[in-house]
Amino acid sequence: MTEPRRPPELGDIQETLLIPLYARAVETSKRHGMLSDPRAVEMVDAIDYDFTRFDGAKSLLGANLRTLLFDAWVADFLQRHPKGTVVEIGTGLNTRFERLDNGTVHWIDLDLPDVIELRRTFFQDTDRRRMLALSVTDPAWTDEVRKSPGPYFLAAEAVLIYLEEQQVHSVFDLIAERLPGALLALETAAGRMVDSQDSHDVLGKVAARMRWRCDDPTALERWRPGVHLTDSCSFARLPAPVARRLNPAYRLMLRAASLLRRRDMEAYRFNLFRFAD
Ligand SMILES: C[S@@+](CC[C@H](N)C(=O)[O-])C[C@H]1O[C@@H](n2cnc3c(N)ncnc32)[C@H](O)[C@@H]1O
Repeated sequence: MTEPRRPPELGDIQETLLIPLYARAVETSKRHGMLSDPRAVEMVDAIDYDFTRFDGAKSLLGANLRTLLFDAWVADFLQRHPKGTVVEIGTGLNTRFERLDNGTVHWIDLDLPDVIELRRTFFQDTDRRRMLALSVTDPAWTDEVRKSPGPYFLAAEAVLIYLEEQQVHSVFDLIAERLPGALLALETAAGRMVDSQDSHDVLGKVAARMRWRCDDPTALERWRPGVHLTDSCSFARLPAPVARRLNPAYRLMLRAASLLRRRDMEAYRFNLFRFAD
């Protein structure tokens, strides 16, 4: 018997998890998509939500490119530290573990309680992977992470932009004090992108709004001594492992966009920070 479709009872920011989920499901149904995620297709089918509001939005492609970039950073970490711990901050219904599990990594999926409740209907804890229902602003999550073997890779994909700057600052303080040596991946949205979000092709369709404005990710190095920006890029200049995954049509589209809309593309950046030991 098929399970009944479940309507997600989620807060406004939490609802945004449905955007990258749908992006992965749509891409999976394409013949030459940039990624394949059958679990995302299953989850979209099981959730009672009008996903069609996002149909045709270019930002769905952007969400997948971002996911591939975060995948590449995590894969690189796992090459060097196969038994380390990856923490998905604001995991939503993310499936990175399914794509990258090497059989030895430890994995923690952190999100707010209503999201973890939904996530538990699709995923189960195992001896190497578990869910934590806590806010990233609650220091308790770092206590849980410290019980897992280091080093730590913290992936905050499409999460911190929804917080106030002072909350992001407190997350940096927490990591510097409690998880020295960690790597943290996050994206930044410049003020002009935050100002124009009401007309954004997917954000304009949901209630959540980006709060944190960051014109220059290098400025975050000055928040705490020992915080270093080790990598930073935009859609206009993606690293080779990600660019290689794109079919010629996507490559052409990105090239055209980076020539015609370079300033817009540079407003949204993907950044990798290292916290000193
Ligand atoms: C756009 S979704 C991204 C989901 C996931 N990272 C992905 O890429 O598929 C934003 C996620 O951040 C989570 N989030 C927002 N504020 C949070 C907080 N204070 N603590 C933990 N998670 C939070 C939301 O619940 C949501 O799942």
